[in-house]
Amino acid sequence: MKLGAKLISTLFLLTTMANALSIKAGDVDSVCNATAQVIKGTLNYYGGLKNPAQVGVFYDPYYWWEAGEGWGGMIINWQFCKNNDTYGPNNNDTLESILYDALMSQRGSGNDYIPSSQSLTEGNDDQAFWGLAVLEAAERNFTNPPEKEPGWLALSQAVFNTMWARWDTENCGGGLRWQIFTWNKGYDYKNTISNSCLFHIGARLARYTSNDTYAETATTVYKWLLGSGFVVDNGR
Ligand SMILES: *[C@@H]1O[C@H](CO)[C@@H](O)[C@H](O)[C@H]1NC(C)=O
Ligand SMILES: *[C@@H]1O[C@H](CO)[C@@H](O)[C@H](O)[C@H]1NC(C)=O
Ligand SMILES: *[C@@H]1O[C@H](CO)[C@@H](O)[C@H](O)[C@H]1NC(C)=O
Ligand SMILES: *[C@@H]1O[C@H](CO)[C@@H](O)[C@H](O)[C@H]1NC(C)=O
Ligand SMILES: *[C@@H]1O[C@H](CO)[C@@H](O)[C@H](O)[C@H]1NC(C)=O
Repeated sequence: MKLGAKLISTLFLLTTMANALSIKAGDVDSVCNATAQVIKGTLNYYGGLKNPAQVGVFYDPYYWWEAGEGWGGMIINWQFCKNNDTYGPNNNDTLESILYDALMSQRGSGNDYIPSSQSLTEGNDDQAFWGLAVLEAAERNFTNPPEKEPGWLALSQAVFNTMWARWDTENCGGGLRWQIFTWNKGYDYKNTISNSCLFHIGARLARYTSNDTYAETATTVYKWLLGSGFVVDNGR
């Protein structure tokens, strides 16, 4: 994740909404009318409806992780706003089919969201954003892949398991490094986002599966975030 890009895309979204859209709080139709326009605008940065090679990712300069965040948000929208589900250049692709294809396209051969296109550059936080998107899909009963393929839950568990396997007790008494791969800038430090994402996915898997092992792991991560000083004052 690059912070500059995140800030710019966030500001872009806020500016767009402030200039063009008005919503009435509590009125689902008005909220969904507004989010539909945000989604249509976002899809202007998406070539995957026309070009199979671009399925799942936005145009440059948007990063791979930003697509994971974007699809995750759209899954919330899909479940909240099931009406008016037509998007894309010809207004005939459904959000459901766009999201399904996007989530499936980036699974990678290990079904853990480290596709070969990212296998030199991906960071722990990048993987986590896609893990959160598929966890969102599991929680919101988004159409699962066919039974012979791993479903959204299994995919999010694989993200969690591969991240947790990188937990490093040799330095700083625990924690994930920012980067996965030794050759990337940021392999030499541990940061809030990577570890918070691991905590976040673990806590949600604990709730979804009722398996206490996830809760115990999430607690370990959270305690480390507190102990390291990354989290202070009840959450800041
Ligand atoms: C949807 O949003 C557009 C643009 O903000 C607005 O012109 C239109 O009246 C809205 N429609 C509804 C049903 O809210
Ligand atoms: C689309 O949304 C509008 C309100 O924004 C609603 O009145 C209409 O029923 C929706 N259309 C469909 C096909 O659900
Ligand atoms: C949408 O319309 C275009 C142009 O008519 C067509 O090529 C495409 O297959 C349609 N997509 C879907 C999902 O129906
Ligand atoms: C998903 O399905 C489960 C089981 O049917 C149900 O309990 C849950 O409320 C559903 N979640 C949503 C967000 O619709
Ligand atoms: C709970 O999750 C852990 C960690 O993924 C796994 O090893 C264990 O088998 C799970 N337990 C159950 C009862 O599914």
